[in-house]
Amino acid sequence: METTWPFVYNFPMSYEGKAKIMKDGPKEGTLVMLFKDDVTAGNGKKKAVIKGKGKINKAITLKLLKLLHDNGVPTHLIEDIDDRSILVKRLKIFPLEVVVRNIATGSIVRRLGLEKGMVFKRPLFELFFKNDDLHDPMICQEHAFMMDLIYPDDLLIVRNLSMRANEILKQYFDSIGFDLVDIKFEFGVDENEEIYLADEISPDTMRLWEKGTMTSFDKDVFREDKGDLLTTYTEVAKRMGLKIEGI
Ligand code: ATP
Ligand code: TYD
Repeated sequence: METTWPFVYNFPMSYEGKAKIMKDGPKEGTLVMLFKDDVTAGNGKKKAVIKGKGKINKAITLKLLKLLHDNGVPTHLIEDIDDRSILVKRLKIFPLEVVVRNIATGSIVRRLGLEKGMVFKRPLFELFFKNDDLHDPMICQEHAFMMDLIYPDDLLIVRNLSMRANEILKQYFDSIGFDLVDIKFEFGVDENEEIYLADEISPDTMRLWEKGTMTSFDKDVFREDKGDLLTTYTEVAKRMGLKIEGI
């Protein structure tokens, strides 16, 4: 059956997003993912340029994508390019932001009135419709199927991969002194309709708290003006054993 992809990003030769630039790679079916120094919050309403952030997020993403790959999660990573870029498989991205939560904060606290810091008995899997005009609204599975954003069988795979990835990352961050509070994943399919984890994995796309506290080591520092973002991300990279030149 032919897949209908009403909202798929059909990249032109080069696509500049809020945090990255995606360009055709050297071989067909590849993309260069370049990490910018820009940081945005509130769907682009709050903006800044933080020199060095791109390099840090690139290094963190590279290490975490490798960690997931080594633990059986298929990712889009092909290889390292330079201090700002990695080479990835070009995918048709499901127009979904998948969020897995271990601890309550952010939009779930605002929406459901839960207490910030409540630890969930088991990780919570949520779907958001990737649509800037609508401000990425939260949706349920039935909405995703109704809009042909993803097939039910594929969503099952995406759910399993998200839960596995969350477990791997949660354990890893625990080992370096952070609680993984929540995390956003994106997935897509290649030309063989195989599903891969895509996009970046960095403190821009997850929340990390100093273990046992609510001290943020992630983009909330910028969202809520809680300190210096570069110092914060540098500490995350340092605990991950990353050495980033020029930072
Ligand atoms: P959003 O955060 O809502 O995705 P954006 O487009 O501004 O907005 P960026 O992170 O700057 O986000 O841009 C990167 C874009 O590349 C995203 O739209 C993401 O879905 C897409 N992308 C990530 N990995 C791949 C991939 N392997 N193949 C194709 N597209 C990808
Ligand atoms: P969430 O609490 O829903 O959003 P908010 O930032 O409005 O409080 O976000 C949960 C986690 O997922 C958080 O670490 C940020 C991340 N996320 C993204 O990176 N991009 C997105 O589009 C969404 C919906 C979440």
